[in-house]
Amino acid sequence: MISSTHISIAAQYIRDGRLVAFPTETVYGLGANALNPHAVMKIFELKERPSFDPLIVHVATVEDVKKLTITQDERLDILAEKFWPGPLTIILPKSEIVPNIVTSGLQTVGIRIPNHPVALDLIRQSGCPIAAPSANKFGKISPTRAKHVFKQLPGVDYLLDGGKTQVGIESTIISLNDKGFEILRHGIITQEEIEQIIPYHAFEQNKSNNIVSPGMLKSHYSPNKPMYLLESDLPSTIDRSKAGLLSFSGEETSGYKVVEILSQDKNLRTCAVNLFAAIHRLEEANIDYILAETVPEKGIGIAIMDRLRKATYKYQPIK
Ligand code: TXA
Ligand code: MG
Repeated sequence: MISSTHISIAAQYIRDGRLVAFPTETVYGLGANALNPHAVMKIFELKERPSFDPLIVHVATVEDVKKLTITQDERLDILAEKFWPGPLTIILPKSEIVPNIVTSGLQTVGIRIPNHPVALDLIRQSGCPIAAPSANKFGKISPTRAKHVFKQLPGVDYLLDGGKTQVGIESTIISLNDKGFEILRHGIITQEEIEQIIPYHAFEQNKSNNIVSPGMLKSHYSPNKPMYLLESDLPSTIDRSKAGLLSFSGEETSGYKVVEILSQDKNLRTCAVNLFAAIHRLEEANIDYILAETVPEKGIGIAIMDRLRKATYKYQPIK
């Protein structure tokens, strides 16, 4: 496990412009000094991430958030009070100090204060904001354990092993418009929870296929094996005895070669925590493909189905 010495060394790596993978409460991040464009460039290179996909910046205090944005929006303080530190990213107009490479040239920046002692300590000791996407190759499964990071990004300069992450899926991302907030990525903080403190208002145009958040791609989180949703039209050649099942509740598991049960008691929070680790194991198992049960699309279920749809997207049978 991590000692304070490890964190001090990692902070020195960040100050030196190198890459550090570190745990947050959601997934592991691949961090660099957000104010150093050369260091940030290395994130894009190691992840093989296209330069049009901007990064989230992590800080430890609301005071530091305000250095990165020019907003005077009072909703920021209301949201910060309720959800930070925590798995909520807010898209805000950026200040001059944020390099263009971090935001892929956008005038906005995504910011969050993570709720993890190691992440917070690393940010404080580094003395700078840390830009960090999830620590996986672009488009692949997100890491919820240090070994997942090592599997995909063995070239990282330093890896802080903080064990299993507690939330398991990435932060909810919201943006603010004149009338309310919109959700760009679903997470365990749901629309209902946010609506308790500020109004929700999605612009009509965003409901169409326009990509407002560059990362809202249809295919993402893809395992290296074909993966299908059980509710979809499965290819006729599917043989369950050669398949791994990603099961929501463990109720109907017979006939599969391998079974991963996400939550015996159908708890969506537990499903989220276990989701990516289960897909990582299925990716490594001796099976030909992965079949995934769907979960009810309500509350946290929306975020889980978002991940499953994107993970299966590129393997959808052609109609
Ligand atoms: O939980 C998380 O958010 C994790 C941990 C490490 O904090 N980070 C994470 O980062 O999931 P990443 O890069 O895998 O996903 C960030 C998403 C991308 O889809 C990106 O397009 C979007 O946030 N994003 C970042 N800045 C944005 C901006 N200014 N406007 C719109 N979308 C933005
Ligand atoms: Mg990611």
